[in-house]
Amino acid sequence: MYSPIERPDGLAPDWTIPQDWAHYSAEDHAVWDLLFARQARQLPGRASKAWLAGLDTLRLSRPGIPDFAELSDRLMAATGWQVVAVPGLVPDDVFFDHLANRRFVAGNFIRRRDQLDYLQEPDVFHDVFGHVPMLADPVFADYMQAYGQGGLRSLQFGALHKLARLYWYTVEFGLVREDDDLRIYGSGIVSSHGESIFALDDASPNRIGFDLKRVMRTEYRIDDYQRSYFVIPDFETLLRATTETDFAPLYRELEALPDLAPDALVAGDEVVTRGTQAR
Ligand code: PHE
Ligand code: FE
Repeated sequence: MYSPIERPDGLAPDWTIPQDWAHYSAEDHAVWDLLFARQARQLPGRASKAWLAGLDTLRLSRPGIPDFAELSDRLMAATGWQVVAVPGLVPDDVFFDHLANRRFVAGNFIRRRDQLDYLQEPDVFHDVFGHVPMLADPVFADYMQAYGQGGLRSLQFGALHKLARLYWYTVEFGLVREDDDLRIYGSGIVSSHGESIFALDDASPNRIGFDLKRVMRTEYRIDDYQRSYFVIPDFETLLRATTETDFAPLYRELEALPDLAPDALVAGDEVVTRGTQAR
């Protein structure tokens, strides 16, 4: 997640900026429409029901990049969440404070046409198409708020890097079991044309049953498709496993345990598929 950065002069203390919808060019909107059409076509039967149901939240009154004000009205009616614009990455405490108050921060810019498949910083397509549909789900909406509160708390324990792995392997790259099959709900997967196939169909990655402590020990890749995905049985279980656990003793316990490599399988894992790790 996000490293310490200084607030530029003139920026609001909560780092938000007006989205300024009028500043997007026709090309910006065309890139959104292209990405949207391509993924909306690919995801039925792959994305979780919750994500697919939430996708309707994004079908606004005009095509192109969503207007955050209109999007927030819809999301507010569904689950009490809002989307606010920020210039790019924001400090951890600012990010968590927004989540704890049911505000999702989204990057204002969109990738260029020659970057459709790979981008280092999250843009508005990842942030909105990837994250907003799940925020329209009442259970997941509560999980995201609780995560923000837990994030603020983790800073007191110097344990953010462990908690960040939970975000990574659920919010960004999570899989869920549905009708005895695997489905995607992680925003990093649904917003990726390649990984939304790879995460479900490829023989390479491990798919492992979700276990809170296991996940918080596991390092992750930020520069390639994941080596392991963690599978939750349903969103209610994820919410309960995290909100009904006091993380303070867990952080202390984790300090004494070695981290696990992204591709590791260890005793006690519920192995759904053992990856070949061949790419
Ligand atoms: N229960 C966690 C704590 O005690 C907070 C949390 C909730 C963290 C949900 C992540 C997700 O810190
Ligand atoms: Fe994200």
